[in-house]
Amino acid sequence: MKTSYKYLLLAAAFSLAACQQESEDTKSSKETVKQEQAVDKGEVKGAEAKHTETTRVDEHSYGNLDEVELKHLDLELNVNFEARSLEGFVDITFDRLKDGVSTLVLDTRDIDIQKAQYMTDAGWVDTEFDLADKNPVLGSKLTVELDDNTTKARVYYRTQPQASGLQWLTPEQTAGKKHPFVYSQAQAIHARSFIPIQDSPAVRVTYKANLKTPKDLLAVMSAFNEPDTELDGDYHFEMPQAIPPYLIALGVGNLEFKAMSDRTGVYAEPGLLDASVAEFNDTEEMVKVTEEMFGPYRWGRYDLLILPPSFPFGGMENPRLSFITPTVIAGDKSLVNLIAHELAHSWSGNLVTNATWRDFWLNEGFTSYVENRIMEELYGKKRATMERALDVQGLRQEVEALPKGDTILNVNLDGRDPDDAFSGVPYTKGQMFLTYLENKFGREVFDEFLVEYFNSHAFQSLTTEEFKKYLNENLLEKHPGVVSMDEINVWIHEPMLPEMMPNPTSDAFTTIDSKTKAWLGGETQLSEMGSAEWTVHEWLHFINNLPEDLKLEQMKQLDQAFSLTDSTNNEIAHAWLMLAVKTNYDVVMPRLETYLVSIGRRKLIVPLYRELMNTDEGAKFAKRVYKVARPGYHPLAQGTIDEIVGK
Ligand code: BES
Ligand code: ZN
Repeated sequence: MKTSYKYLLLAAAFSLAACQQESEDTKSSKETVKQEQAVDKGEVKGAEAKHTETTRVDEHSYGNLDEVELKHLDLELNVNFEARSLEGFVDITFDRLKDGVSTLVLDTRDIDIQKAQYMTDAGWVDTEFDLADKNPVLGSKLTVELDDNTTKARVYYRTQPQASGLQWLTPEQTAGKKHPFVYSQAQAIHARSFIPIQDSPAVRVTYKANLKTPKDLLAVMSAFNEPDTELDGDYHFEMPQAIPPYLIALGVGNLEFKAMSDRTGVYAEPGLLDASVAEFNDTEEMVKVTEEMFGPYRWGRYDLLILPPSFPFGGMENPRLSFITPTVIAGDKSLVNLIAHELAHSWSGNLVTNATWRDFWLNEGFTSYVENRIMEELYGKKRATMERALDVQGLRQEVEALPKGDTILNVNLDGRDPDDAFSGVPYTKGQMFLTYLENKFGREVFDEFLVEYFNSHAFQSLTTEEFKKYLNENLLEKHPGVVSMDEINVWIHEPMLPEMMPNPTSDAFTTIDSKTKAWLGGETQLSEMGSAEWTVHEWLHFINNLPEDLKLEQMKQLDQAFSLTDSTNNEIAHAWLMLAVKTNYDVVMPRLETYLVSIGRRKLIVPLYRELMNTDEGAKFAKRVYKVARPGYHPLAQGTIDEIVGK
């Protein structure tokens, strides 16, 4: 198997994370979850149940969504770096959907609950609560007793240092080395590790938050952030737009802000601020072209928070404030499709949201499609096509290795952790489905459909079934005879990649393929490859398509000609290091060690550890390096790599 591009790797990282959960113990608990929930919710199980699912049922939440509808949160939290804990309380305001509702059922994971109250005319009164035993996937169900009328509850709590949704960093683990840092990552089901909440994407809340921090640090949230906030250790936030819990986010550190336009800017540690602004200063243009294509940006400001290199993802679309890995600061804007992607979620995902994690492709497929449209608009067709072709090559390789069920867009999670089914499928198969519709109906018609889809579902969550109905009524039936519902069902419910899938081809890549062939056949020299003009994408295609049985002599020639071991582009370095491990080109080992110790982004490091573990020598190296690197990694990355390398 050849090295692939982003999704294959990202998926590898996730499926490994999944393995972590796959102990017998966990499996049986998962079964228990499924059964408990079926009973709790009066859900009918069986094949037909899949199509009668409503947005008020989520197999990944214990919450009584059918009884209580959350509306608003007020958070009062002290950010305690010594104890590695958020301490305080949350007030939850809700509507009652039925008569006789006597409990508020919430999700938690590893949270200490100190007290629960509800609001009466006479003020707050203490109430009973029950914190159930921990389920390894879902965490602990928290049941708060209510009286007959109350619509507000308060929970006093403390997060634990190992909260899966938080990373606490020592000063040494930051760029500046002087101040600690903490940030949250709630998607998919980690909000419950730092807020007791109905942690389902079908839930939407507005929120206000007060965060108390050490005085010299700045706090930011996925809410309105005042660009020139005074540093005083006391920060107030307001998010007036209703968002799902997985989009609630915070970051606290030695952060400075620099504006890129009236509504876009960057928060970063001082040492990274200028490089970040230089890399990402097309953001305003990105917002503009997306608005022109898909309707207004409805969230006010759009800022970026640059995280420490241990952030386990490329980016996270927290509303008004995308969280971004510093590993894409390449100096040449070559990896800014990440920004286009996280920005695109302001339409697909944050505005129109998957109702359950089975509908994740509605978030990521639409976002990958919009991302690529932004890239085309801003950087031209050639680059957009190359990015699509790299992703599709990755997808084709990936589906061969995935369990068949996980190649279905509307995947059956069947009591599994949503992370277990993570792959490039919702991303690239989803994107290709929409590209197929665009090709069939024409860009103009399809864009009109998308604009209306975003408008009519703004600030709502929907299931795949609801999407299909909307698609049928607003596209298929309006233009009869173009695409049938049978074809739609193949895309959405059948495994693997359909025959009708578009196959993006890049002329630039075809040229590289023939030159590579000529070099491998001994007909030409590396100096004749024409590589002086190559973009990062061409380099990635070139390296990803080199045979894995290259001779050491050939690896040496490549390195001498192109200095690949010294590449400062983290994606190119990743592709090259993968090839080097596979071909036993051990010249790279010192570079590989630095790479693994300084980066915590799972997509970049997990495949390398896994490849290393294939040989005794490699495994020895991996174990030694992991010992040094592990304390700097996010709990999610630690969990994943513990499974591969051992603690
Ligand atoms: N929302 C995702 C990240 C995510 C997915 C976190 C599932 C937790 C669970 C984000 O928008 C994303 O897709 N990031 C990619 C960006 C890439 C596709 C350009 C990443 O992190 O690599
Ligand atoms: Zn995404």
